[in-house]
Amino acid sequence: MHDFRSGLQRRWPALLPYLCRMEQLLQQIESYRKEMEDYQATDQAAVENFRIKYLGTKGIVKTIMGEMRNVPADKKKELGLIVNDFKLFAENKYESLKATSNEQPTSINHPDLSLPGDLLTPGSRHPVTLMKNRIVSIFRRLGFAVAEGPEIEDDWHNFGALNLPEHHPARDMQDTFYVQQNPDWVLRTHTSNVQIREMEKGKLPIRLVMPGRVYRNETISARSHCFFHQVEGLYIDENVSFADLKQTLYFFVKEMYGKDVKVRFRPSYFPFTEPSAEMDVSCFICGGVGCNICKKTGWVEILGCGMVHPNVLENCNIDPNKYTGFAFGMGVERPAMLKYGINDIRLFSENDVRFLKQFTGAI
Ligand code: PHE
Repeated sequence: MHDFRSGLQRRWPALLPYLCRMEQLLQQIESYRKEMEDYQATDQAAVENFRIKYLGTKGIVKTIMGEMRNVPADKKKELGLIVNDFKLFAENKYESLKATSNEQPTSINHPDLSLPGDLLTPGSRHPVTLMKNRIVSIFRRLGFAVAEGPEIEDDWHNFGALNLPEHHPARDMQDTFYVQQNPDWVLRTHTSNVQIREMEKGKLPIRLVMPGRVYRNETISARSHCFFHQVEGLYIDENVSFADLKQTLYFFVKEMYGKDVKVRFRPSYFPFTEPSAEMDVSCFICGGVGCNICKKTGWVEILGCGMVHPNVLENCNIDPNKYTGFAFGMGVERPAMLKYGINDIRLFSENDVRFLKQFTGAI
């Protein structure tokens, strides 16, 4: 280059300044390009600074393009391409700076570390779940496993197999929701359907608790709802007797309501058990003296139970001469209401956080 230049100077002294300028220009373009490449904008202001510096009316790109005037004609094309490319580079860089600074607002790039942290508001278990878990865990300690079944059930599993044939008057005990698409389907009225489904599996012995939601066409009020929860129990083996039923439920009651609570069985009727009984506990609110909760009787009804009817065993292909068993079913909402002092069953399903958050930490 040096030789070339000194040769030039000798032969065409007037051309040299232009060629030197060209070389300078190329160097400048190269270094500005580098500068732009490294340019980082963390906020909108920095993007705008870039625009003014490189693409503004008095910016670098314009200035360099202005230099084209001084370039000799035969070099114009070659240099024109380079300058144009430089301009495009600047514009592209500007666009990408704009895009990335939009994606990342200033606060993300410069978080204010002095701000207080977000409050963690841990949820809590629903009181129905708390009570269900309590009931289930007591039976688990006696060796009962847990099973669940469908809430939309066919007539056979909800009624027929439970010794409640069509037109049986006992069906009226449970006002039923039918499923419009299929007259054979109901929203299960109790968790006893799971008894049938488990017995059908043909694996004996059975020792199960079966929690779940059930539905009845009842007027909604503070005391009753069209859906609620039950925990069903079933024990089938050889030589299971009513004494086993009583002993199991005694254990449950003592664990649930304390050692001093008294128990009584009242004869009752369920088509799927024989004999059948309802079990009351002495009122754990007033200790049996009589209060509003026990309607001044001193007793609170907590479950229905009995020995599984031989017809039910037969419906599930279990030999009633070899096997016997007991079953029971209890509600979940009422004991939960008594334990937590809840006076309206509708609160359970209103999803009001002011209600629900009161159970944080409850077990
Ligand atoms: N299924 C009965 C009800 O919902 C309760 C029950 C279950 C009674 C098991 C006896 C045996 O009322």
